[in-house]
Amino acid sequence: MKSEKEDLITAAQLIKKGGVVAVPTETVYGLAADALDDDAVKKIFKAKGRPADNPLIVHISDISQIMEKKLVKEIPEKAKMLMDSFWPGPLTIIMEKGESIPKSVCAGLDSVAIRFPSHETVKEIISLSGCPLAAPSANISGKPSPTSFAHVVHDMYGKIDAIVDGGDCKVGLESTVITMITPTPRILRPGYITKEDIEKIIGEVDIDRAVLDQMNENDKASSPGMKYKHYSPSARVILLKGSSERFIDYVNSSKENNLTVLCYDEEQDMIKRKCIPLGKKDDLDHQARKLFDALRKTDDDGTELVYAHTPQTQGVGMAIYNRLIRAAGFEVIEID
Ligand code: TXA
Ligand code: MG
Repeated sequence: MKSEKEDLITAAQLIKKGGVVAVPTETVYGLAADALDDDAVKKIFKAKGRPADNPLIVHISDISQIMEKKLVKEIPEKAKMLMDSFWPGPLTIIMEKGESIPKSVCAGLDSVAIRFPSHETVKEIISLSGCPLAAPSANISGKPSPTSFAHVVHDMYGKIDAIVDGGDCKVGLESTVITMITPTPRILRPGYITKEDIEKIIGEVDIDRAVLDQMNENDKASSPGMKYKHYSPSARVILLKGSSERFIDYVNSSKENNLTVLCYDEEQDMIKRKCIPLGKKDDLDHQARKLFDALRKTDDDGTELVYAHTPQTQGVGMAIYNRLIRAAGFEVIEID
């Protein structure tokens, strides 16, 4: 459906009745249901094929809902500072869970993730329904997150009650997730709001080991989502680590028939193989916005192998790296 006022009223009614509705946010589309209705939340897990031990983010449209709806036990001082600086926006804050959060939302953990998105459409739907919304990304579990209406239709048509069209997502990667439960706040998932942005407000924060490195089978994940293979198209994805010159030579000399190359705009003319430009080399925001759409495109054209650059881990680059290295199942070739 569109996002005219009457559509949003319909979406809110479906949610109030225990339905599941896909909604646009500034990061990626979400699969939303009333966060305080255990049965409704279970439908989300079913539609996505998501493992029950992977908790969901609760979305609000006003900071006052956190205590009014008993979503958390208390709001730590540093969490308040982050809310004042970055909300509404692409930051998710994990705190001790409150008494109203059903088990399905937090997957049995003692904590809950809260996010106040900035996209007008989802804010309006939350306000109209009066429900905080539990919403994971609206993709089939394991696939790249949806950043357009068409992506959601592709993954969810016929499985949920409605899909609201809010256009293309401006950020294109999921929110930064930070936990306030550890003695030093810790980033569990990097995003558009960077470590540097956060440290300016609350001082030192840690980066969870699983953000950049592969977890062992037996490691306990601080964020359960990080242990799953993720963001993967059907093709095998391999990251190439090295200079642009070497990258161009390497992909041009590949013998693979069904190859797609994810490249920078500046390289496009020199690459003789099928390639999808992600944006200018230094334009990390643009690359972030394009990444999931590019990965999804390789599913539509029979691509069997994808080569991409190993991104820098500075600033927003850390979030791009985190998603790409998972899409690649941590497969990297040094080409210099
Ligand atoms: O931008 C976003 O965050 C999007 C939009 C729809 O808001 N949502 C999203 O949700 O990406 P999802 O479910 O795909 O990712 C949530 C991540 C998962 O890795 C999950 O394990 C983690 O947050 N998470 C949620 N609650 C948690 C908790 N209590 N403790 C640790 N990690 C948690
Ligand atoms: Mg997800």
